[in-house]
This record gives sequence, C-alpha cells and structure tokens, in this order.
Amino acid sequence: MAEQRASRRKFLGGAAAGVGLVGVGVAAGYGIRSLNDTSVDTPQVSQVAVESAASGALAVVPFYGDRQAGITTPQQERMVFAALDVTTADAGELQQMLERWTAAAARLTAGKPVGRRTAADDQPPIDTGEVVDMGAHSLTITVGFGASLFDRRFGLADRMPAELRPFGTIPGEERMNPAISDGDLCIQACADDPMVASHAIRNMVRAARGSAIVKWSQLGFGQASSTDAGRRTPRNLMGFKDGTNNVTADDHATQDEQVWVPRGPGSAATSWMTNGSYLVARKIKMELERWDAEPLDEQERVFGRKKVSGAPLSGGAEFTPIDFAKTDDSGAPVVNVDAHARLASPQQNGGIKLLRRGYNYIDGQDQATGKLSAGLFFVGFQRDPQAQFKVLQTRLGTSDLLGEYVATIGGGLWACPPGVRGPGTWFGDELFL
Ligand code: HEM
Repeated sequence: MAEQRASRRKFLGGAAAGVGLVGVGVAAGYGIRSLNDTSVDTPQVSQVAVESAASGALAVVPFYGDRQAGITTPQQERMVFAALDVTTADAGELQQMLERWTAAAARLTAGKPVGRRTAADDQPPIDTGEVVDMGAHSLTITVGFGASLFDRRFGLADRMPAELRPFGTIPGEERMNPAISDGDLCIQACADDPMVASHAIRNMVRAARGSAIVKWSQLGFGQASSTDAGRRTPRNLMGFKDGTNNVTADDHATQDEQVWVPRGPGSAATSWMTNGSYLVARKIKMELERWDAEPLDEQERVFGRKKVSGAPLSGGAEFTPIDFAKTDDSGAPVVNVDAHARLASPQQNGGIKLLRRGYNYIDGQDQATGKLSAGLFFVGFQRDPQAQFKVLQTRLGTSDLLGEYVATIGGGLWACPPGVRGPGTWFGDELFL
C-alpha cells in the first residue's frame, strides 16, 4: 500500500513535471516561432489574462461593517435577486432564520462553503457544492425587509418606517404583475461570476427551509449602470451608456445625503434603519424589436444623449453637464422637454438623486409573441423612496419619451437594514429589540 502511495506520488510528480515540460515546450516553441511569426505577443497576453482572472476569483468584499455591502460597493457583473415570503408565523423562528442567513452570508462572501461542518456521508451535503474552489468573485449578499413583514404576524407593525409604505399605483406602473412583485424579504446576490451568485441564493434559500419560500426571482447580467468613478460606463440593452450621472462609489457626501438613512432623532419605528437604505426594484420590459427599428436620431431624442459617446445632445463629452436651456435655430430645446435624461435629472427634481445599481435581463423569447423577453432590472437605493423613487417615477411615468418603448412589469420596495457589525449580530437584529 505504502509502495502504491509512493508510486502514485511519483506519478503525480511526474505529471507535474510533464506540465512543466509542456510549459517549457510551449515557451521553446514560442521562441522558435517568434523568429518568423509576427503574432509574438500571444503567450504573454494569455498569461496576463490567467493571472488577472485568478485575482478576480479570489477578490473578497468585506461582509461585516456598519453598512451592508452590495449598495455602494463596486458593482459586479452578475446578479441573482430573490423575493421570499415567510411561511412561519413564529417571530422566534424568523429571527433564527435571519441568524442562519447571516452566518451563511458571512461564509459565502468569504468564498467558503455555507456551513462550517460537513455532513455525514449518509446525509445530504450541507453546501450544494457547485462552487467549491471557485473563490468569492467579489460576492455581496444584501438583505431587505418588505412592508408585508410588518403585518400582524410577528408583532412588528409599530416598527414599520413610514418610508416603507406601499406606493400605490404610480404612473407608468399600471401593468405590474403581483406574481413578480413584492415579498416579505429580499436577497440581492451580486458577484463577478454567475455560478457564485446563484450558488449564494440557492444556499440561502436552503437555509430558509421551513421558515420562508421564494416568491419570485430574477437573473441579471452586465451591470446596467456604473457606480465606479473612473470606470468605463456600461451599456443597457438599448445600446446607451447607463450610469453616466450616477452616484459614484467614492462620492461619500452624496451617499450620506441621498442613499444612507442618517442617525437622528427619528422615532423608535425607524431608528433600527440607521445606516440602512431602501431598495426599489423594477423589472422593466423593453420593446426591443420596436426600438431597433427606430432611426438613431429618434433613439437619441428619447434619452437626450448621443448613443455611442453618451454625450448630452446639448454638446460636449460624456460627463459634460447637460445644458437644458440650449435651443436650436427654431428656438426648440435641444434636449427634448420629455427626454429621459432631462426628466430624471436632479436639476429638474429639486436635487433628488438615486444610486442606480441595475442589471440587464433576457428571459428568452415571449412564448405568445415570439419577441425577446428582455429589459432592465432596475435597482435603486435611497434614504427615502417616497421622496426619491416615487417622485421621479411619477414624473417619468407621466411624460418620459422612453415610456413608448418600456413597460414596468414587476418589482418591489424593501428596507435594507444596517450592516452586520460582527459575529454574534445578525441582519436586522435591532428591529427585534
Ligand atoms: C428601461 C428603463 C430605463 C432605461 C433604459 C434608462 C436609461 C437611462 C440612461 C441611458 C440614462 C442616461 C445616462 C445616465 O446618466 O446614466 C439614464 C439616466 C437616469 N435615469 Fe434612467 N433608465 C430607465 C429607467 C429609469 C427609472 C425607472 C428611473 C427612476 C425612477 C431612472 C432614473 C434615472 C436617473 C436618476 C438618471 C440620471 C439623470 C441625471 O442625473 O442626469 N431611470 N437612464
């Protein structure tokens, strides 16, 4: 047996040496090839790609802190979002579930399996296993509480913040489908790898078993808005740069003013939300076939910006402030009075801003029409959704030129409590004090 092990080690050693030899062979081949081949930089380029992919895989966003990650932390490439309904009527069980979620999220965001222990061989494994050895890929897990959690079941009715009350039907949102709207709880998992994000949600849902079930969920990709100052602005599925005038990750003054719930004299009903933020999600379907048939100048009129550069139609480059007063030779405003970028701008809305952190989605073809079932999964964070999202959406839903090409079909509003400050505390613990 010992001999077998030794020979197996020897074999592995030999294999490793073989890999090394292959490497040498490639390098040697490259050296020879480079004598008469102009594509000489290929090996170095792929080496760099491998190294940067490894560091991206290992990247960890700290979980513990005064504020939850996944809000002002840099936006990742992928999102899996789930809305859940609580099935237990026992407040103690709900708290235990939130404690399990916290422990799970702390491990998953560190790139570890969901549980510290491993199960016996005759039991289902504690972690589902599909991302073993993959790294954290900057995973963040953000948890929120919906208005329905504050009904009579858990004795929380008098702790509901006024900011969380349901909006009613806002203009432009008449087609919201209740089956893909709201939920007692939400989890937003974002990562630079789709497996890592979906593994997180799958294992959090497992940890909720017996206490909560998924009501609806959504996959998103390709960050439809930028929160990183200095990073290339990503594009939405309509082909426009999205996030040019977003609240950036390094703009702490605006975050404190517009995104985070401040510490203050607020009532007991809201004090547990200090350092939290309100998440508004909207699944907004795009009529892409119709959009793609529109001339470029019409597409640019809708947003008030150039398609390729992202510059305002009033002139300049992408980050030049929009000149809303500029008129053309006929005296008409260069940026249409109903252009999306004008209607949504803080200049036109008493200084209101939102931190947009949405993702593109494609759910395949619509079975009934054969058209693409695709659009924007809008996610916006703010300190008071009644004074921010609701005001903006009322304006956009009333006259936005974009309204002809999009329809809001689902979504919800959740209160994301402050961050988990360390082991022994858990998501929203102050709510239950
Ligand atoms: C499918 C739906 C939507 C699309 C395709 C879209 C796309 C865009 C684009 C291309 C811009 C200009 C670039 C930028 O500054 O980021 C923009 C700006 C903006 N949008 Fe939207 N948007 C959508 C829905 C919404 C909704 C529902 C809201 C909020 C109620 C919203 C709020 C904003 C805000 C606040 C700005 C920045 C305006 C400024 O400060 O200049 N958008 N959007």
